[in-house]
Amino acid sequence: AGEPLVLGIETSCDETGVALVRGRELLVDTVASSMDEHARYGGIIPEVASRAHLEAMIPTLERTLGTADVDLSEVDAIAVTAGPGLVGPLTIGAAAAKALALALGKPLYGVNHVIGHAAVDELVHGAFPERVMALVVSGGHSSLLLVDDVATAVTELGSTLDDAAGEAFDKVGRLLGLPYPGGPHIDRLAREGDPTAIRFPRGLTARKDQEKHAYDFSFSGLKTAVARWVEARQDAGEEIPVHDVAASFAESVADVLTAKTIAACERHGVSTLVVGGGFSANSQLRDMAATRCAEAGIELRIPPIRYCTDNGAMIAALGSAVVRAGVAPSRLDIGVDSSMPL
Ligand code: KG4
Ligand code: ZN
Repeated sequence: AGEPLVLGIETSCDETGVALVRGRELLVDTVASSMDEHARYGGIIPEVASRAHLEAMIPTLERTLGTADVDLSEVDAIAVTAGPGLVGPLTIGAAAAKALALALGKPLYGVNHVIGHAAVDELVHGAFPERVMALVVSGGHSSLLLVDDVATAVTELGSTLDDAAGEAFDKVGRLLGLPYPGGPHIDRLAREGDPTAIRFPRGLTARKDQEKHAYDFSFSGLKTAVARWVEARQDAGEEIPVHDVAASFAESVADVLTAKTIAACERHGVSTLVVGGGFSANSQLRDMAATRCAEAGIELRIPPIRYCTDNGAMIAALGSAVVRAGVAPSRLDIGVDSSMPL
């Protein structure tokens, strides 16, 4: 049936994702998460996540095949996240993918998780135009990618030098005494606050940083600024205006992310922007990106949130693109890479 049927497996963090994609059509996407277990510890424990992947892998695979009414023998290729991510969790996915490739005699493709966050949008909004910009923002990554061909030609223009956007939100959440992960809680508080109440710093936007770090991000200085601001009020025995702190903090993050991304689009003559990763749920980022893209004449594509958080569809989508591009399969002895470059 024409287009290859690709099975995608994702295990880089706390989600066990398995999906089937034919061409650019998503057949089924199944995700099992171990976040409930991690929330109790206030962060992701790699050993706990690895064990959860090991237990969830076959049931998630079986549910995916069952829902699609597909037999494993019909699968043409196996794609798996080879990095970046947590080594233990990545290893569980890679081991499962290798076992399937070996048993079925089908090619294995180890792919990059961050590029997957961009590739998944092709399943939702159709094939990419010739050149797109992708902003991938989550708890683990904040990267700006220039995509000439999602399978073969992706350039990282910039990334975070310290915390990822979601990670900064989670740290500020802890500071404000919010449950983990704090990102969605800050977002909720921010909606009732004044984003102009406090002028927090915009990382790496000063003239001296522009030359070297035009498209890089840094959020740890902002996090420290928020901590100092809050501590000073606490020491003075004043009440903390949490809504205004949340809104002003989120404003700084959204401002830097969108300003740098749009500058990169203009610099590289790109008129389509894809935003992916779990942080793309953030209200202020969405609003500001929509407004500024409209002003700049840039088409904004953001997949529904379930395809922005980690999932198997993003890996199957990228695997499918790689197969269609005629890229050679990976060897069965490939390793995983926690900080895999593009
Ligand atoms: O992609 P994702 O589910 O997992 C990672 O790969 O990290 O992203 C989760 C991250 C967490 O840091 C979470 O706090 C943040 O994204 N996040 C948000 C929002 N929703 C999720 N941060 C701010 N506002 C939100 N609405
Ligand atoms: Zn991710």
